[in-house]
Amino acid sequence: MQFQPSERIAEVGQKYLAIQQEQIKQLKRKGVSIINLGRGNPDQPTFKPIVDQAKTELNNPINHGYPPYGGNQTLKTSIKSFYKQEYRVDLADDEITVFSGSTAALTALPMVLANPEDIVLTPTPAFFAYHIGITMSGAGEWQLPLLKENNFLPDLDAIPEHILKKSKLLFLNYPHNPTGAGATTAFFNKAVQFGKKHHIAIIHDFAYADISFEQKVPSFLQSPGAKDTGIEIYTFSKTFNMAGWRCAFAVGNPSIIKLLKQYIQNSVGGTFGTVQNAGGFALLHQKEQRQKLRSRYLTRRNAALNALKQCGMHASKSSGTFFIWAKLPDNIYDDKAFAKELLNYRHVAIVPGSAFGETGKGYIRISLVSPTQTIIAGIHLLANFANNYQESRDLID
Ligand SMILES: Cc1ncc(COP(=O)(O)O)c(C=O)c1O
Repeated sequence: MQFQPSERIAEVGQKYLAIQQEQIKQLKRKGVSIINLGRGNPDQPTFKPIVDQAKTELNNPINHGYPPYGGNQTLKTSIKSFYKQEYRVDLADDEITVFSGSTAALTALPMVLANPEDIVLTPTPAFFAYHIGITMSGAGEWQLPLLKENNFLPDLDAIPEHILKKSKLLFLNYPHNPTGAGATTAFFNKAVQFGKKHHIAIIHDFAYADISFEQKVPSFLQSPGAKDTGIEIYTFSKTFNMAGWRCAFAVGNPSIIKLLKQYIQNSVGGTFGTVQNAGGFALLHQKEQRQKLRSRYLTRRNAALNALKQCGMHASKSSGTFFIWAKLPDNIYDDKAFAKELLNYRHVAIVPGSAFGETGKGYIRISLVSPTQTIIAGIHLLANFANNYQESRDLID
């Protein structure tokens, strides 16, 4: 028997990276070796002291049962100390909840806070999870273009009044995937005022909190009054190379935290105690390792920007994340076709900008989760293909 997808799951479709992963697998089966500058999975292992702590935690029977919903007290205490030390933000227990990876919370939030007649405000280009959560909730979406001339910050004053009236939440994400842009404290202050004025929940996805270069990026919660109107979501995936462990947390407005906790409790459930306690340890004891990881990404970013410049391609200087947002030459109209051809004929994977929304058209996202030499080699191949696009295609045909 063949079962058909529901309308909502059919609309969500498959993630671009999942489709690309399948294409890569097929090429690898034919013996082709691929330079993968598409993925967003850290290439380094979890810091060893965290793994060692998890081994100890695994032997503790207290971690073998169902974990308490919303996070255990050990992790919550570590989160409080961490936010105090890193951002000078005080948190109470009811301002924290824990779940298995931030994607689970990001996709849940539209279902938690919006009804089908409501609207959710999203940046574009953006990480896929916001759009998927909105589709699953049945709510409407209003996209806010992030443009280079506005430093990739949304223009909150440009949202029409009739949209504002129906809007229930706004997603923000800085350092930003895919552009690498950072937010300013002034912008977050403005977002807080905006949220308060229009009674809109601000959801700040802080996935790349710790991966910033020239300047430490602010936490949304550092803005006065932020807890009145929003939450921040922090994941262990990137900061500690713990993407496979599936652990993240949200901090901020207690009423949003309560609803999110309620949703998680009734759907995906709690997070393995071993993982929570290893995470709590990571927050308090891995400052030096985090610094080393940042330096590693900085070296790769600088090498990538140099290589792109040498090849005559334009890219924004990212202030954080492990991504570079590069402009394709003007004669390449279809970034998705370009990405597919680049993979098939030059064996380099990147993500086309329009996979992050229409505003990303004409751009590509290059990731820095490979050794520097691999990144440079990949950039040379891709730039050569892009700069001689018509000729390369004629030869292929
Ligand atoms: C902006 C952004 N938010 C959230 C996530 C997901 O993180 P997690 O591993 O916690 O689900 C990612 C992962 O790529 C991301 O880029």
